[in-house]
Amino acid sequence: MSLQTELQTLRDQAMTQIDGAQTLNELNDVRVKVLGKKGSLTEILRGMKDLSADERPVVGAMANDVRNELTDQIANKQTELETATLNEQLKSEQIDVTLPGQPAIQGQPHVLQQIIESLEDQFMGMGYQIVEGPEVEQDKYNFEMMNLPKDHPARDMQDTFYISNELLMRTQTSPVQARTLEQHDFSKGPLKMISPGRVYRRDTDDATHSHQFHQVEGLVVDKHITMGDLKGTLLAVAHQLFGEDHDIRLRPSYFPFTEPSVEVDVSWNPVMPDTKPEDIDWIEVLGAGMVHPNVLEKAGVDSSVYGGFAFGLGPDRFAMLKYGVEDIRNFYLNDVRFLTQFDQKG
Ligand code: PHE
Repeated sequence: MSLQTELQTLRDQAMTQIDGAQTLNELNDVRVKVLGKKGSLTEILRGMKDLSADERPVVGAMANDVRNELTDQIANKQTELETATLNEQLKSEQIDVTLPGQPAIQGQPHVLQQIIESLEDQFMGMGYQIVEGPEVEQDKYNFEMMNLPKDHPARDMQDTFYISNELLMRTQTSPVQARTLEQHDFSKGPLKMISPGRVYRRDTDDATHSHQFHQVEGLVVDKHITMGDLKGTLLAVAHQLFGEDHDIRLRPSYFPFTEPSVEVDVSWNPVMPDTKPEDIDWIEVLGAGMVHPNVLEKAGVDSSVYGGFAFGLGPDRFAMLKYGVEDIRNFYLNDVRFLTQFDQKG
């Protein structure tokens, strides 16, 4: 068989194989088999060395034509196969715009955070600044500067987690009083602050006790602050959180850092002008009092000139009363079925 005939046959066979390729892989196999280094076209061209000088350019030109033709054909087929694959893919990935969407679940602030934020709003409106203090606190601020020296019996009520003899998880937000008093420049005006945050106690957890809970500390220090200011402020807080028809009651109590000290109750039921005192249910919600002179003096404030009131309220307690939550541990379990009940969006 002459080389021309062989080339012709090779061309025809290759054309058929290219046309018949079903996939890009198959097409590539054909290309390698025909045009590759060890392919059949190269094989045929090796025979050219035996041709006469006249024949060689003729066969050479023909071989070139065949190579170009096959290369073009392979390129066309490749485009065709790629388009088909893409169409196939587009078809299978088609989006059904009529399907219902997946609703995006939006979170909301934790119920305790909601209470804290509403208190922050209210106090900022009354000109208070919001101050934060560390949860890992020094004995000095948590106790000593709050008029609880080492071995003070009142320390018993606030046992906590100690990191070292001098470092502990704060048992109350009251140390922020001492920290703020120390820093405050009274020549620039009175000190009015609240400090929300987490506190810790060595308590056995049950429905009404948690080893971790929240407090919002309040402190006002200026000249001529009276207990009437304290009562008015706390009444405004009770009205804001529980409604205008709720009243408060102050009972004498004891805290080392206030003198006199009070415990404050909020009426559980609305109080109308004709409600008899014996028909009111009172619930204790916070501790308060007039800042003890020792607390002022320890922080370098002249107690013969300045005085004030302080209070510490528990948002956990507030939330339990406001929403009828029976177990304080619910606030700390992160169960969305519980938490989503307090969705502000309603
Ligand atoms: N720190 C007190 C407590 O945790 C509450 C309190 C704060 C009382 C400020 C009086 C004044 O029990």
